[in-house]
Amino acid sequence: MIKSLEKLRLEALAELEQVSELKELESWRVRCTGKKSKLTQALRSLASLPLDERRKIGSLANEIKVDLELRMDEKKKFLEEEHMASFLKQEGLDITLPGKLMPTGRLHPVTQALDEICSIFTRMGFQIAEGPDVEWDYYNFEALNIPPEHPARDMFATFWVDSKETGESARLLRTHTSPMQIRIMEKEQPPIRVLVPGRTYRYEATDATHESMFYQVEGLAIDTNITMADLKGTLFEFCHCLFGEERKVRFRCDYFPFVEPGVEVAVECLNCHGKGCRLCGYSGWLEILGAGMVHPNVLKRVAIDPEKYTGFAFGMGVERIPMLCYGIDDIRLFYNNDIRFLKQF
Ligand code: DAH
Repeated sequence: MIKSLEKLRLEALAELEQVSELKELESWRVRCTGKKSKLTQALRSLASLPLDERRKIGSLANEIKVDLELRMDEKKKFLEEEHMASFLKQEGLDITLPGKLMPTGRLHPVTQALDEICSIFTRMGFQIAEGPDVEWDYYNFEALNIPPEHPARDMFATFWVDSKETGESARLLRTHTSPMQIRIMEKEQPPIRVLVPGRTYRYEATDATHESMFYQVEGLAIDTNITMADLKGTLFEFCHCLFGEERKVRFRCDYFPFVEPGVEVAVECLNCHGKGCRLCGYSGWLEILGAGMVHPNVLKRVAIDPEKYTGFAFGMGVERIPMLCYGIDDIRLFYNNDIRFLKQF
């Protein structure tokens, strides 16, 4: 019995040696170690042997089975590798070639600028709020101290949704984010500190510095005892965070109907540091935002007592900031969606 088992092992191994394909390997397995194989039959017939022999022969038969299975696994691995190698050769694949880079997305430069602006003001305690792009005449103009025949309406070339003759209840695409000042003050009682990022629209021919859709960020702070000093401190801090501690910041008088006094804020030119160059129109300064102390008429309109509360507001165009920082000379590049431009940021 022992001899015949050893013979089975040698025969099986000799046959395994001859196997040259994965398909044949399977039939070898069935033949030599499967249910109907001689080896399995030998194991089954053990029951009829005396105990002593049964132990000896049983353990040998098991050892042979394990041995054959092990050899089969080795052979299988070998055949698989051989198969892959010949496949690669046939297909002419060069697996040493570098792989294709998956294109990764990134944030749009304007989104990056918005994030940065929002993060500076939220660190100062401002909350973020958003509002509708389609706005009423009332919020965009009337409540901001810009009645129908006010010349300031000419500053805002408007996309009308309804006929503008409809007055306060005409709809339009908001020309600035300032209408959100009114919406917020209608709902909230002071103290208020909010920042409103959003899209704005102007009915204008586009050129290198004008787009019909662009982003603005509006700020509003209302409380007791807010003065011009708070406005200046806040906006100094903002400019220094965005453009660096050393950057000079200039405040000059300006006019906006919804503030009194109104100011225009400029920073020392990023390019020539104040000496004068093409970027700053040889003035040495870059204007970046409008601001002012909220007009008492605006506060009255939303039933906030201007004798008790004061506040400041500011508004800025967003695209201008990456344009200045990266030396981009055409605002239209932001919205052409040319990946070669966008992927640089
Ligand atoms: N809304 C103005 C614009 O679009 C910018 C502005 C100026 C906003 C002064 C303000 C402000 O809040 O106080 O041109």
